[in-house]
Amino acid sequence: MDPQLLSDAIANPRNLGEMTDADAVGTVGSPECGDMVRMWLKFTEKDGRKVIDRASFQSFGCQTAIAVASMATEMLKGRSVEEARSLSATEMSQPLGPLPPMKIHCGQMVEGALKAALEAEARQTPQDGATPAAAMAPLSPPPSAGHLAESLGEAAPAPKSGKLRIVFE
Ligand code: FES
Repeated sequence: MDPQLLSDAIANPRNLGEMTDADAVGTVGSPECGDMVRMWLKFTEKDGRKVIDRASFQSFGCQTAIAVASMATEMLKGRSVEEARSLSATEMSQPLGPLPPMKIHCGQMVEGALKAALEAEARQTPQDGATPAAAMAPLSPPPSAGHLAESLGEAAPAPKSGKLRIVFE
C-alpha cells in the first residue's frame, strides 16, 4: 500500500457525505472492527443506458476504508449497474497498491456497501416480465438513511460469523 497515496486520499477524500437526492443507499458493518460504511448512488441515463451519475459515502473510524471509498466513488461515475456490480474490492483499492492482510476487509467493506446499494436499487426497479401495474408503480421515495452515526445505535447485533453485515434501511 502506497503510504503517500493513502495519506493524500485521507487528507482530501472525494465524495464524502450524505447524498440527500440519492436513488439508492447501502450500508454494511464489520463485526470484527465495528466500523461501518454507507454508500449513496445517483443514477442517470446515458446513450440509452442507466449509469451511475454520482456516488458518495460515509465511513467511521478506518482510514483505509475512507481512502478506498473515496477512490471507488470516483471510479463509479459513468458505470452501468452491471459494471458496478462486477467491481471487486481489489479493483477499487488498486490505486493504493496491495492492501496489507489486516486491511483487506476495509476494501471489502466498501464493496459490500456498493453491492448493498445496488441491491436496494434493483428492488426498486421493475424487472422484465413485471406486470404493467407494477411497471407503472411509482418508484419509492428516495431513501433517507440519514447520517451514518444514527445507524450505529440502530444496527442489529453483529452475527457471530461472516465478515460483513448488511444493515437494512
Ligand atoms: Fe475495519 Fe478498516 S479496520 S474497516
